Amino acid sequence: MPINKQWHLISRPTGDLKPENFEIRESVVRDLGANEFLIRTIYLSLDPTLRLWAREQDSYMPSVRLGDVMRGFTMGVVEKSNNLQYPIGAIVTGVFGWEEYSISDGSGIVTRVEMDPRLPLTARFGLFEHIGLTAYFGIVDLLRPKFGETMVVSGAAGAVGSIAVQIGKILGCRVVAIAGSEEKCAWLKNELGADAVINYKKQPLKTALREACPNGIDTFFDNVGGETLEAVLDQINMKARIAMCGAISQYGTDEKPYAPPNIYNLLMKRAKIEGFIVLDYAADARWWAIAHDDMTQWFLQGRMKYRLDIVEGLQNAPSALDKLFRGTNTGKLLIKVSDEPVVA
Ligand SMILES: NC(=O)c1ccc[n+]([C@@H]2O[C@H](COP(=O)([O-])OP(=O)(O)OC[C@H]3O[C@@H](n4cnc5c(N)ncnc54)[C@H](OP(=O)(O)O)[C@@H]3O)[C@@H](O)[C@H]2O)c1
Repeated sequence: MPINKQWHLISRPTGDLKPENFEIRESVVRDLGANEFLIRTIYLSLDPTLRLWAREQDSYMPSVRLGDVMRGFTMGVVEKSNNLQYPIGAIVTGVFGWEEYSISDGSGIVTRVEMDPRLPLTARFGLFEHIGLTAYFGIVDLLRPKFGETMVVSGAAGAVGSIAVQIGKILGCRVVAIAGSEEKCAWLKNELGADAVINYKKQPLKTALREACPNGIDTFFDNVGGETLEAVLDQINMKARIAMCGAISQYGTDEKPYAPPNIYNLLMKRAKIEGFIVLDYAADARWWAIAHDDMTQWFLQGRMKYRLDIVEGLQNAPSALDKLFRGTNTGKLLIKVSDEPVVA
């Protein structure tokens, strides 16, 4: 069996997750048991949620224990197998570790990818799984936008946010996108079709929102939380809907997260706010398939784009994390751990 390199979580972060919270160790991969298969990692996805998993307290998943291999969403290829459902050569995605090789018996969060020659492998993370489908379910199930409504998206140039902006446009909304640089705002406006953009690092958010949303805000897809949520709450319309996808502005704090003091505006406006976790939707195979079909069609029709920010080498995973929290990632942040298999 091959040698495995694995990143272990060795200390809890204070503030952002940092390289010193991790240590790389090597060991020989153990032999496979009944039903088990060996996956060579191709891509490791770096996500803001890693900051939540590294905390002492459990979140929507148990906390990663100190000394354990750091958890992550990965994609890989099966190289040895005792499991007929996951034969050698199958491509799988799932929740595994920051490691070159993983072993699975098919239980837990693992999916065999149905290969589609029209889509690159990276579309799994750009368009589907816990990225594109998060935007899809948050909008289609929670926000339920009506044609012509104003939708605001925060973290709009990020992996999830950029897909949310495009779905909003496809469904006929007037989309206002909030992001943290001029380059990101230009991309959102010129390439993704956002109707108005706000660089929250340059413009006072409340004023900019008032100008960009003269008819108020009907729906909000929130990736950021904190003061961004507060600014939007000030300007919601009657019966507004807010999908709480994430709160990245609050992940690095060990204090209580900032709760907007104007939360009662939900009452005044008979509005609602709802949190969701995309993994919950995976239980409904039919709906998951509908989402896949819609996203595939939109992509093939040229109505849906995604950007990737690929960093080479598992050794660079801890230092690349900083991009998410500084906002310097330009698209879905992936670590390329090994080469994609050559398709004949
Ligand atoms: N509910 C679910 O099932 C689910 C699934 C996946 C992801 N999420 C959530 O979705 C959000 C986006 O995740 P992603 O994977 O797409 O990451 P991403 O948006 O590609 O990267 C994170 C971005 O967040 C922005 N950011 C960082 N710190 C910020 C701060 N203090 N204030 C405002 N913006 C800040 C940065 O963009 P700027 O340059 O614009 O600041 C950065 O590029 C996260 O909150 C994540 O937890 C939820």
